[in-house]
Amino acid sequence: MEQAAQYSSRTWVGKQHLHLVETDSTNNRALEYIHQPDAHGLVISAETQTSGRGQYGRTWQDGTGQAVLLSVLLYPSQIIQRASIMTAYGAIAVAQTLEHFVNEKPLIKWPNDVLVNGKKVCGILLEGGTTPHQVPYVVIGIGLNVRQTQAYFDAAGLPQGGSLQTVTGKELKTSDVRDCLIDQLDRLYGELQARGPCVLEEKWVEYTQLSGRQVQVVLHRGDILVGILHQQQFGQIVVRHPTGMWHGAPEEIRNIFLIR
Ligand code: BTN
Repeated sequence: MEQAAQYSSRTWVGKQHLHLVETDSTNNRALEYIHQPDAHGLVISAETQTSGRGQYGRTWQDGTGQAVLLSVLLYPSQIIQRASIMTAYGAIAVAQTLEHFVNEKPLIKWPNDVLVNGKKVCGILLEGGTTPHQVPYVVIGIGLNVRQTQAYFDAAGLPQGGSLQTVTGKELKTSDVRDCLIDQLDRLYGELQARGPCVLEEKWVEYTQLSGRQVQVVLHRGDILVGILHQQQFGQIVVRHPTGMWHGAPEEIRNIFLIR
């Protein structure tokens, strides 16, 4: 069940937009287009997903019509295609969207959950690889809760979950939030292409609120570091810990927890 592709005045993201009534996962639908070079910036959205996918193999629940569920297919140029940059790009676009609808400052919880008032209102699932034509691609899947009630999260056993409605008390239209998010993704992608990853770094530091703070850093290889987050750049993360400095790429870090 789908509507015809819409063509808009957007420049990159959402120039082509396919909205589905129901699908298993918008990421799955977007991945079907990776053999099409002209699908760069294609957005697939849905009212509901029957097998929404989350990080680490988890499922992602929605509530028909109550969440923004969308995936963007991009063929990013070499300078911006790193996972840390694409992750930050998606999360910052969400945070900037939230600034239009909520008074509280959104928080990006490493690597790419977005929280308002301590509640997770958005999750992002990045899937990337190389197309059959050897072009690197990324699908950025975004689930942004808009209209679910507290009873919904209680019944789903998601005590940390929230929606724009639970955090603001406002009943927003899901389609308004979706349109705003696609606009932010489009605008930010234009800046990222034109000026490179530096356009994201300041916002990344601002929305993650980790810089200069005492943190616990969990590396993908299993090590855990406790120290001060001394530097946060895509080029390098530096953690000052009791016995020295740890330097590494953001992609080496699975999670960062704020200690104080
Ligand atoms: C997370 O676990 O926090 C990430 C959740 C990502 C959910 C979105 S909803 C749209 C897209 N399609 C999916 O199947 N997953 C992502």
